[in-house]
Amino acid sequence: MLKKDLKVLIKKSWLIIKERRKVNFLLTLFFFIFSGISELIFLSILTPFIANIINNQSFWDIENIRIRLELLGIKNQNELSLLLFLFLIGSIGLNLFFKLISLRLSLEFSKKLGNDLSSEIYYKSLKQPYEKQIKRNSSDLISGILAKVNTYMSSINLFFLMIRSISLTFIVVSPLIFYNSKIILILLVSSSILYGAFITKYKRKLKINSFEISKNINLQIKVLQEGFGSIRDIIIDSNQLIYSKIFKKTNYKLRTLNASNEFISETPKIYIEGLIFTFIAAFVYGITRFKELDISDLTKFIGIILLIQRILLPCFQQIFISWSRIKGEIDSIFDIFELIDQKIGHEFDLSKIPKLDFKKEIRFKDLSFKYNSKTKNYILKNINFKILPGQRIGIIGETGAGKSTLIDLILGLLTPNEGEILIDGKNIHLEYLNNVPYLNVWRKAISHVPQSIFLSDDTIENNIKFSPDNQSINKKRLVEVAKQSQLFTFIKSLPNGFNTIVGERGINLSGGQRQRIGIARALYKGSKIIIFDEATNALDTYTEEALLESIKNLSSDITIIFVTHRLASLSFCDRIFKIKNGNLEFLL
Ligand SMILES: Nc1ncnc2c1ncn2[C@@H]1O[C@H](COP(=O)(O)OP(=O)(O)O)[C@@H](O)[C@H]1O
Ligand SMILES: [Mg+2]
Repeated sequence: MLKKDLKVLIKKSWLIIKERRKVNFLLTLFFFIFSGISELIFLSILTPFIANIINNQSFWDIENIRIRLELLGIKNQNELSLLLFLFLIGSIGLNLFFKLISLRLSLEFSKKLGNDLSSEIYYKSLKQPYEKQIKRNSSDLISGILAKVNTYMSSINLFFLMIRSISLTFIVVSPLIFYNSKIILILLVSSSILYGAFITKYKRKLKINSFEISKNINLQIKVLQEGFGSIRDIIIDSNQLIYSKIFKKTNYKLRTLNASNEFISETPKIYIEGLIFTFIAAFVYGITRFKELDISDLTKFIGIILLIQRILLPCFQQIFISWSRIKGEIDSIFDIFELIDQKIGHEFDLSKIPKLDFKKEIRFKDLSFKYNSKTKNYILKNINFKILPGQRIGIIGETGAGKSTLIDLILGLLTPNEGEILIDGKNIHLEYLNNVPYLNVWRKAISHVPQSIFLSDDTIENNIKFSPDNQSINKKRLVEVAKQSQLFTFIKSLPNGFNTIVGERGINLSGGQRQRIGIARALYKGSKIIIFDEATNALDTYTEEALLESIKNLSSDITIIFVTHRLASLSFCDRIFKIKNGNLEFLL
């Protein structure tokens, strides 16, 4: 467990930022610091400029300044004013330039890094084993990928601002301390004491807020997901109010926490501003009461006020804001680190995975399975059966009997607690083929057609191919599988044929057509084993029968495992098993 403090946070961030992004990071930081310095330059020219205007005296009237100016080639008062003006305009331009560039760079940086991190977390989360997936809550992942990465990006921006403020304070304060400027020293000591007091006061509160925020972001997404995920039941039972009340509660909590953080980060400013302006007022009073002002006094005086008001105060405040905001969200940021650190197994190039030669049988040997290894609650107990190549296998059972569990075991998503699954005598979880785990080989050879197929917002062609490899589509094969899955006549009737977009932007496919795309996808993949898990549940009887007919007519070297809770759908099968009380009964 990492200690959640700023030091670890910076170290860890440096580790997860990729090399080329580090360059962006440093460049942005550099421009941030320079935008601060250019602001200083601007102020240091603005001060004499203003003093020159509001005082009827000019620098020109001061003997030793004039001598120096003349040495520089400035001939009279007007030239001096013009020069000051030009410098002022120049410094405004410079300041503008640095500010714009640093804004652009920081946005660019957080755009790229945010995108890197969100996508990396998404990818790594998808790569986690199924057994881990079913145990965790997807709302934690979604909040990480969306909200928490954004929090992290804002924190990095706050960090830029903090470093800018620290460097500016340092640049301004060190020469002033050197010159023993009492006013700055007093100011520095008193603000440090005040900010120190705030830090001690709020540290604990921020820590608690941070923990609660991270928890409530997850909770909020969980409520949303559950609500929209069970919308059918909600409508039927008129439960909208229950869900929206739960949502309102977590949302309110989250907003309260954010408001609390914001209050903490803004309050010191109000106190310190009060303190400093009292201070300035006293200073002004003292100086005008006891001293005649000449232009160099006035310059110093305006300079100090501007310096405090435009540089030091905002810097102090920014350092505090950055510290408190980062501190107040640190748990969310560490959640991101945890998600980024998810380990993923070795990657195999899909095209390099050898083809499975499934010749003899898939055998389930003394297989037992339970979801929670601590309980005695076996979903499947001591199961033995085999499937031969080309067989049509029907699996039936009531809802909750364990059909999907059995399928997940066949797919290698779940690992049996006892017993083994053997393909031609090879244990899918233990053996290797040409140095590739057998499980990868096995998965390449099987396809799964679920109740609801995922169709991407893309062409029919790409939805059938549906593979990340860059290989171009084999048109001949495409037509062939479309014919086998009985989609061809339909596709041909579309004006754009295989290039028709499906999904949100394109045509909507009927349930039967969607399932056929699933079958076409499996055939295009070259699967020798196709598993249908309640694939025809959502279809009307007529469509189901038509689909069953096509499944039945698939090539005889394809093994089919068909899961349903309706016996009538299994008339095309060679063998039928029924799952009941964790056991298999052979019906056929
Ligand atoms: N991820 C899980 N964790 C714990 N129990 C589960 C999980 N998934 C399913 N179950 C339980 O396993 C049993 C079988 O579920 P399942 O295989 O989905 O049944 P079927 O597909 O036959 O309807 C059910 O009692 C269900 O509650
Ligand atoms: Mg099921």
